[in-house]
Amino acid sequence: MWKGKNVTVFVTGGIAAFKAATLVRLFVKAGANVEVAMTKSACEFITPLTFQVLTKNKVHTDTFDEDEADRVQHIHLADKTDVAVVVPATANTIAKLANGIADNFVTSTLLATTAPIYVAPAMNEHMWENPATVRNVVQLKADGKVIIEPATGFLAEGYNGKGRLPEPEEIFEQVTFFESRRLYGSPLKGKSVLITAGGTKERIDPVRYISNDSSGKMGYALAKAASILGAEVQLVSTTKQLKVPFGVNVTYVESAREMEEVVTAQFPTTDVAVMVAAVSDYYVANRSDQKIKKQHNESGLKLELAENPDILKGLGHSKKEGQVVIGFAAETERVLEYAAAKLEKKKADAIIANDVSSSKIGFNADNHQVTILTKDGKQLPLPENSKDELALEIWKSLLDANIIQ
Ligand code: C5P
Repeated sequence: MWKGKNVTVFVTGGIAAFKAATLVRLFVKAGANVEVAMTKSACEFITPLTFQVLTKNKVHTDTFDEDEADRVQHIHLADKTDVAVVVPATANTIAKLANGIADNFVTSTLLATTAPIYVAPAMNEHMWENPATVRNVVQLKADGKVIIEPATGFLAEGYNGKGRLPEPEEIFEQVTFFESRRLYGSPLKGKSVLITAGGTKERIDPVRYISNDSSGKMGYALAKAASILGAEVQLVSTTKQLKVPFGVNVTYVESAREMEEVVTAQFPTTDVAVMVAAVSDYYVANRSDQKIKKQHNESGLKLELAENPDILKGLGHSKKEGQVVIGFAAETERVLEYAAAKLEKKKADAIIANDVSSSKIGFNADNHQVTILTKDGKQLPLPENSKDELALEIWKSLLDANIIQ
């Protein structure tokens, strides 16, 4: 998404200016060409050299520093910018932007650019709540700028309040989210999507469990992609290790039976259910309430396993009211054959088949490759890709094949 994009980061004079360095790093790491422009006050908090080293580009601080005769610097930068991020945005700069004032390099470039502008305010709580700032922020939103809402937390003044700059990772995620939405549109707008993710845990005793090998990454990637594409997303997850994607609601569960309960309750208000979780086929019927002690006897320890509900099959066979039901088939051999059998048995609208025999893709890996099998007999192979990109392609294919209408 960011490879080859020209991202300009505008740094204004607040104590949170140091966080802009990490944000710049994140864009550089993602493959963007980053340029930085700073106000004079920003240079009091962090030096242009920091940004020059991080971006390998000259940092702009002075409108009249015209050292190249063939261009006017701020217009040149405004024209080449694909995405502009103002971070941190002070109350002063916000006021200028809201009123079209162009009295320094930062504000002049921002007035001249036609690129999307993201504004991440950071200031004292009372400045943030001042009616003038409130008015200016409303104006910026009306003008089409995206405001990255300040967080509540410990302020530089030594007390808690709203006005804190969100962490750079959070800003990066939000900008990426809205830029992806600009790129892919919102074809899932108005749809409610229910996704399960992760391996269920079936308790043996309070400290031990049986589980399936699944990181949950594919389910989270599908939830993130659905949210980008405009859906209302409910994620039912067994793992707390992964970051909940922007805009996604999550319910944490542990066992298959807990998962079934949540899924069944949410299904009536769902349009598309995608069961990605690796659900244990069995639970431990003789689960112990206390930690089991090592037993030194010949017969060892016997676990009684009872069958878990098949959540996907339950949904596929239920009296549906227009819901689309999609499953996953992780196989190590005869992948398409087994997936086709699953499509039939579970009465799903589509099955996403994936080969998990290699450790480079699939379980726990960051990359994946799948083939979508639809109930009307289509096979849609999707090339290997990162789970995030692949998830967007999966939704696109399901829409193109009219599985989701
Ligand atoms: O039957 P199998 O586990 O191979 O099928 C995989 C698909 O079925 C996945 O979509 C998985 O989430 C779903 N499943 C389920 N409940 C089970 C077992 C699998 O929803 N008990």
